[in-house]
Amino acid sequence: MKATKEQWSSKFGFIMAAAGSAIGLGNLWKFPYITGTSGGAVFVAVYIVFLLLLGIPILLSELAIGRFAGMNAIDSCAKIHPRWGFAGAFGVIGAFGVMASYSVVGGWVIRYIINSFTDTNMNSDYFTSFSAQSFEPILWMAVFLLLNCLIVKSGVSNGIEKVSTVLLPLLIIFLIAIMIYSLTLPNAADGVKFFLVPDFSAVASLSDFMSIVFNAMGQVFFSLSLGMGTLITYGSYLPKDNNLASSTVTIVTLDTIIAIISGLAILPAVFSFGFEPTEGFGLMFRTLPAVFSRITGGTIIATAFFILVLFAALTSSISLLEVIVSWVCSNTKLTRTWASVIVTVLIFIAGIFSSLSVGAIPDIKIGNMSLFEFFNFFSDKIIMPLGGLFICILTGYVWGIDNAVKEITNNGRFKFAAKKLFAFSIRYIAPALIAVIFASSLISFILPLFR
Ligand code: PFF
Repeated sequence: MKATKEQWSSKFGFIMAAAGSAIGLGNLWKFPYITGTSGGAVFVAVYIVFLLLLGIPILLSELAIGRFAGMNAIDSCAKIHPRWGFAGAFGVIGAFGVMASYSVVGGWVIRYIINSFTDTNMNSDYFTSFSAQSFEPILWMAVFLLLNCLIVKSGVSNGIEKVSTVLLPLLIIFLIAIMIYSLTLPNAADGVKFFLVPDFSAVASLSDFMSIVFNAMGQVFFSLSLGMGTLITYGSYLPKDNNLASSTVTIVTLDTIIAIISGLAILPAVFSFGFEPTEGFGLMFRTLPAVFSRITGGTIIATAFFILVLFAALTSSISLLEVIVSWVCSNTKLTRTWASVIVTVLIFIAGIFSSLSVGAIPDIKIGNMSLFEFFNFFSDKIIMPLGGLFICILTGYVWGIDNAVKEITNNGRFKFAAKKLFAFSIRYIAPALIAVIFASSLISFILPLFR
C-alpha cells in the first residue's frame, strides 16, 4: 500500500475541486426534481436542518481523516484503526452505484448540448422519446465516461484541479443569469412560493413526512458527496496548513447556494409553463429548453448552459472515479492510466443496464424500481448514509474527538470555536438520526418486496 504523493497546488484549487465534487447534477438536476416530488418548501427546510446537523460535521470528519492518513479512502480509515478499512470501502463500492446512474444522466446532458444547437424544436416530449431509446443514450453515456477517464488519468492537480478552477465560477455566473430570467416569467411567483413557503397540507400523514425526511437526508449525502470516501480522498491531497473547518463551511455554503439558485431557476419556470413539479427526473430536461426557447439567441444560450451542466457533472463524477482509481493504484501494480481505463469499462457495463432500464427495457427492475432508480436509491439512501454513520463512529469513538480536533486545528494552530458542537453532533446527533431514519426507511422499502 502506497501513501498518496499528489497534492493540490493551491487552497483555491482544492476548494474548487471539493466544491466541484459537491456541486453537480445533484444540485442542478436532482435538487429541483426531488423538491418537486417531495412537497416543496417543507422538504427544503428539512434539507437545511440536515445540512447543519449531519452535512457539516461529517464533511469535516472526512477531510480530517483523509489529511491525517494521506491515503485512499479504505487505507486512510484503516490507518486510524486496522479493522476500520471497511468504512472507506463503502465509497469504493458505492462509487460504482452512483456512477452507473450518474453517467446515464451525464450522457443525456451531452445529447442536449448537441441537440440544443442543432434542433430548435426540442419540445417537452423529446426527453421521453430520447431517454427511452436503447442505443443513443448508451453512446452518449460512453462519451461522458470517456471524458471522465481522460481527466482522471491525468492526475490530481493537472486534471481535476485545473478543470474545476475554470469552470465552476463560470457555472455560477450563468446560473444566476438564468435564475433572474426565470423569476421574471409570468406566474413565477407560484414557483417561488412552492419552493420557499411551506405548505403543510402536502404532509398529510406520518409516512409522507418520513419519506420527505428520508429524501432530504439522502439528498444531503448525495449533494455534499458524503459517506463515499470522496472527501477522504480529496483531503489526502491537502497540505497541513489548510484550515479544514473554514474549508468545510465554504464548500457547504457554495453547494447550498447553487442548489437554491437551481431551484429558483427551474421551479418558477415549471409553474410558468404549466409543467408538473412532481414530474420526476425529466424535470430539468423538459423545463429549461422551454425557458430558452423564449429568449432571442436561446439556442446559443441553451448550448452554453448545457455545456456548463456537463462540466458541473464532470467535476463531480471525476471525484467518484478518483475514489476507485486511487484505491486501485495504491493496491495493485496498475498504472493510473490502466486503473482509470479498467474502472471506466466496468462502470460502462453497469451503466448499459441502468440506461436501458429507463425506457428501452423497463423490465430491468429490482423490487418496483427500474435499475436506474435502484442505483440512485442504493447509493444515496443506503450506501452513503451507512458510510456516513461509520465515519461518525470512527471519528467520534474509535479515533476520538481529541485526535480529530488535533488534525482539524493542525495541533492547535487554528481556532475551532465549534469544537463542542462538532463533538456532540458527530458522537450523538448524527449517528442517532442516520440510524433511526435509515432503519425506518429500509423497513418501508423491504416490506413491499415481500407483499
Ligand atoms: N455531489 C455530487 C452532485 O451533487 O452531483 C454527486 C456525488 C459526487 C455524489 C461524489 C457522491 C460522490 F462521492
